[in-house]
Amino acid sequence: MKLIGLVSLAAGASATFGGNLNYQSPSLHHPSLGVSIRKVVARTYATSPWTPAQLNFTHGVASGDPYSDSIILWTRAAPGSDNDKSNVTVSGYAELFTHDNDGFVKASKATVCVDWKISATKDFVKVANNGRTYTSSDVDFTVKVEAKKLKAFTTYYYQFSICNSNNTSPLGRTKTLPERKKKVSAPIKLAVYSCSNYPFGFFNAYGNPVRKDSVDYVLHLGDYIYEYQNGAYGWGDSLGRIPLPNREIVTLYDYRKRIATYRTDLDLYASHQNFPWITVWDDHEVADNTYKDGMAHLNNSEESFVHDGGISVDQRKANAVRAYFEWMPIRQVEMDDNLRIWRNFEFGDLFDLIMLDTRQYDRSITDLYWNTEYIQEISNDNGRSLMGPRQESWFYRTMRESKARKTLWRVVGNQIIFSRISQSASGLFNYDQWDGYLANRNRTFANMYEHKIDNNIMLAGDSHASWVSDLVWLGEHGYNATSGNGSVGVEFAGSAVSSPCPIGQNATLNTTALASGFLTALNPELQWQDLFYRGYFELTIGYDAVQAAFFGLPDLATRNGFEISLANFTVRPGENRLHRYGDGTTVSSTGAVERGSLQRGKTLASNLTHDTATGKYFVFGGAK
Ligand SMILES: *[C@@H]1O[C@H](CO)[C@@H](O)[C@H](O)[C@H]1NC(C)=O
Ligand SMILES: *[C@@H]1O[C@H](CO)[C@@H](O)[C@H](O)[C@H]1NC(C)=O
Ligand SMILES: *[C@@H]1O[C@H](CO)[C@@H](O)[C@H](O)[C@H]1NC(C)=O
Ligand SMILES: *[C@@H]1O[C@H](CO)[C@@H](O)[C@H](O)[C@H]1NC(C)=O
Ligand SMILES: *[C@@H]1O[C@H](CO)[C@@H](O)[C@H](O)[C@H]1NC(C)=O
Ligand SMILES: *[C@@H]1O[C@H](CO)[C@@H](O)[C@H](O)[C@H]1NC(C)=O
Ligand SMILES: *[C@@H]1O[C@H](CO)[C@@H](O)[C@H](O)[C@H]1NC(C)=O
Ligand SMILES: *[C@@H]1O[C@H](CO)[C@@H](O)[C@H](O)[C@H]1NC(C)=O
Ligand SMILES: *[C@@H]1O[C@H](CO)[C@@H](O)[C@H](O)[C@H]1NC(C)=O
Ligand SMILES: *[C@@H]1O[C@H](CO)[C@@H](O)[C@H](O)[C@H]1NC(C)=O
Ligand SMILES: *[C@@H]1O[C@H](CO)[C@@H](O)[C@H](O)[C@H]1NC(C)=O
Repeated sequence: MKLIGLVSLAAGASATFGGNLNYQSPSLHHPSLGVSIRKVVARTYATSPWTPAQLNFTHGVASGDPYSDSIILWTRAAPGSDNDKSNVTVSGYAELFTHDNDGFVKASKATVCVDWKISATKDFVKVANNGRTYTSSDVDFTVKVEAKKLKAFTTYYYQFSICNSNNTSPLGRTKTLPERKKKVSAPIKLAVYSCSNYPFGFFNAYGNPVRKDSVDYVLHLGDYIYEYQNGAYGWGDSLGRIPLPNREIVTLYDYRKRIATYRTDLDLYASHQNFPWITVWDDHEVADNTYKDGMAHLNNSEESFVHDGGISVDQRKANAVRAYFEWMPIRQVEMDDNLRIWRNFEFGDLFDLIMLDTRQYDRSITDLYWNTEYIQEISNDNGRSLMGPRQESWFYRTMRESKARKTLWRVVGNQIIFSRISQSASGLFNYDQWDGYLANRNRTFANMYEHKIDNNIMLAGDSHASWVSDLVWLGEHGYNATSGNGSVGVEFAGSAVSSPCPIGQNATLNTTALASGFLTALNPELQWQDLFYRGYFELTIGYDAVQAAFFGLPDLATRNGFEISLANFTVRPGENRLHRYGDGTTVSSTGAVERGSLQRGKTLASNLTHDTATGKYFVFGGAK
């Protein structure tokens, strides 16, 4: 009897520990690869060293990866704001826990009990789903649960609390997706981001849609953090934004601490609290110009495979991935593969959002600065892939299935610029973008043409600048830049939240305007380009059109709500190109953009700025 009672108690406790998804990583099917829940459970029999008042929700709340009936909720419930320093590795767990099993429970290894609840109303009168789970230093005190049994396309409020106490987290707001295959009742609005670099400025871009309450969901296309030491890249000293730990990050503690530091930015905090996020990583979540088994730092020399402190390149990547899964409100869609973040979201029959990983998963060697000529030589090799064969097949199949379901739009969230971008008359390209992987781009185009897949919207980040293009398979299909005939979709590539201009950190308006004009002249399918502004864009996706509104941020030196409307574009169903207006331009009403270079159009340079905090408009720079 007693034995049975004990066993069932342990099973129940394991279930609630398992409710914290971060214990299951990297594999639910192979528990030995995750944190030993059995051993964490064993430790909870000790009295907690902390009273509820000593515990804090140190980094607010977040939600993400919405489905029509479930969503991921995140928080961190910790005895302090610092991160766990144990450098745990998967193989290191056994050893750590054997020590604990001697009955010696260190305070740092004790567990925190957390309750959570979600409701369609702020007062939680009717709770839609709730639960109890645990966290501990093993997972840096992060909590990640899946709220289930939710109604489709519904706004929800959620909150965590320390068990048996009134110590609650901030109130979070989130939203489920529309039901699969069903009509959607409203246009859906997304804010699209990339390249947020803490020591380069305040993350005002994240706060503006919160202040405007203008979107349903947030997309991040990667470079959510940067791995550098302050000063190596950025001027955090002058802004009071030193990214901790202040060194190039390599250990598990380093990656946890770096993400944690970013999450103290009040606008990032507010965006996570108010909107569900859907994210993919680019290179800097691990290191600069990563590919499947390397990074820019490597020179193919023996010493370059081991970092200071004896951390190998593979260990560094494992550390980065582990911290990312702990801290981001992301689902692990394939339980045996926690390097996989490529996944699909179905927004009713309106659109599919296909999120790719062109960086960490299985990318062939990229431009590492010392090998540019070599990458140029091999850029047209058939064997080169950004995604690897598994992800490529999945990508093409997902596009075809989306069409077969009669879903109207296919929105592809990818890291790097897809379109051909010639950078000089003599034919220089950025081989770290799709331009260095021509076969992969051809196969993507071939899939669209052969299966008559249309209404394709590619999204990209990574470049720190804005690029809007028709999607054109040059050399294979004719293209008329004036009418857009010959295109199979559009690409919207957004600027950085704060990372600097790619042609010079403080490049002037004149310099950037010249360069933008040069780029649009060289690339006729590139309909608009701007290099000057840091910013983001909002996509409004409806049955009648997809609208893209680009915003530039005039001042990142302080936390403020200022933004400038830079350009608006429309895509109509079936047109497969940027919509042309009467005058042949691709922008609405005026045939003009605020900055940058527009094919067949004007640049206003009005500096008209919206303060999203007050709702007022003013001319930035003091001009009347
Ligand atoms: C928790 O937060 C409160 C309020 O910010 C602070 O006073 C307290 O010191 C924090 N506790 C710990 C253990 O960090
Ligand atoms: C929570 O607060 C209420 C109202 O102040 C109080 O009655 C109750 O005892 C508190 N609960 C706990 C567990 O401290
Ligand atoms: C790689 O080579 C470059 C240029 O030769 C050098 O600056 C850099 O320090 C080298 N990096 C490593 C890790 O050896
Ligand atoms: C974690 O790794 C860092 C860098 O290698 C090292 O300085 C530190 O002592 C390690 N911490 C522990 C607890 O092993
Ligand atoms: C890709 O397509 C272009 C245009 O047809 C062609 O020039 C190029 O050789 C193709 N490359 C590969 C690897 O298929
Ligand atoms: C391209 O399209 C424009 C606008 O429809 C048209 O006037 C022009 O003749 C077309 N050019 C070619 C080469 O077909
Ligand atoms: C568009 O181009 C195709 C060939 O690529 C041509 O057959 C068709 O007539 C063109 N349409 C228009 C409206 O110019
Ligand atoms: C750009 O401006 C920042 C902030 O004023 C300054 O710290 C930095 O040194 C400048 N960078 C360059 C390359 O001039
Ligand atoms: C920038 O360009 C404008 C217009 O061509 C010109 O009037 C102005 O003097 C230039 N400014 C600088 C700093 O070169
Ligand atoms: C973009 O559209 C908005 C809303 O219609 C408008 O207020 C804004 O002026 C437009 N921006 C540009 C650059 O035309
Ligand atoms: C417009 O803003 C830019 C910086 O964003 C500034 O350099 C320029 O002086 C401003 N122009 C006017 C007319 O105020």
